[in-house]
Amino acid sequence: MNKSIEIRRATDADLERLTEIYNHYVVTSAATFDTSPFTLEERRDWFHQHNYNPLHMLLVACLDGETVGYASSSQFRQKPAYDSSVETTIYLDPEFSSRGIGRQLYSKLLQDLEAAGVHRCYGVITLPNDASLALHESLGFEKAGHLTEVGYKFGKYWDTIWTEKTF
Ligand SMILES: CC(C)(COP(=O)(O)OP(=O)(O)OC[C@H]1O[C@@H](n2cnc3c(N)ncnc32)[C@H](O)[C@@H]1OP(=O)(O)O)[C@@H](O)C(=O)NCCC(=O)NCCS
Repeated sequence: MNKSIEIRRATDADLERLTEIYNHYVVTSAATFDTSPFTLEERRDWFHQHNYNPLHMLLVACLDGETVGYASSSQFRQKPAYDSSVETTIYLDPEFSSRGIGRQLYSKLLQDLEAAGVHRCYGVITLPNDASLALHESLGFEKAGHLTEVGYKFGKYWDTIWTEKTF
C-alpha cells in the first residue's frame, strides 16, 4: 500500500486540504495550541511563509492522488542568529495515521533539510502523544526540555516536550 505514496512540495492547490487537516486538530486536540479554526484566507499567510527560505519547507504526502498529510519546517525564533535552526511539525488526516505514512513523510522532510544545510531541528510535542514521541525518537530527535503547563486549551493546562535533532 505504501508503494503508492508520493511525497512532494506543496502547491497552492493543496491549501484547502491542508487547512482542513490542520483545523481538525485545532478543534479536537492539544497537539496544536491554536484554538480557533482557520479560514483559507487566514491560512494562506502561513502557507506562503514556506516560499522564501530554503530551510522553510512544506511537504505533502499523497496516497493514490489524495493529499493525506503534511510536514513543515519554519523559523525557530525570529532573531537572525536562529536562522540555521527550524521548528518541524507534521499532521496527517487521522484516517491515515499509524500506517507508516508519518514516518516516510517526516524522514523526507529531514533528508531535504539536511541537504539544504540545516543545523538543528526542534519538534514540540504536547503530552500525551505517544505516536509523535515515537516518531521523533525513531528519527533521531532527543529530548531537550520539558515545559510544564505551558499551554491552556480545552479548560486545562498542557505540558510540552521539546525535542532536538542535530545534523
Ligand atoms: C504523529 C503522527 C504524524 C505520526 O504519523 P503516523 O503515520 O501515525 O506514524 P507512523 O505509522 O509513521 O509511526 C511512527 C512511529 O510512531 C509509532 N506510532 C504510530 N501510531 C502510534 C500510536 N497510536 N501510539 C503509539 N505509537 C504509535 C509507530 O510505532 C512508529 O514508531 P517506530 O518508528 O518506533 O516504529 C500522526 O499520528 C498524526 O498526524 N498525529 C496527529 C497530529 C500530531 O500529533 N502531530 C504531531 C505534532 S508534534
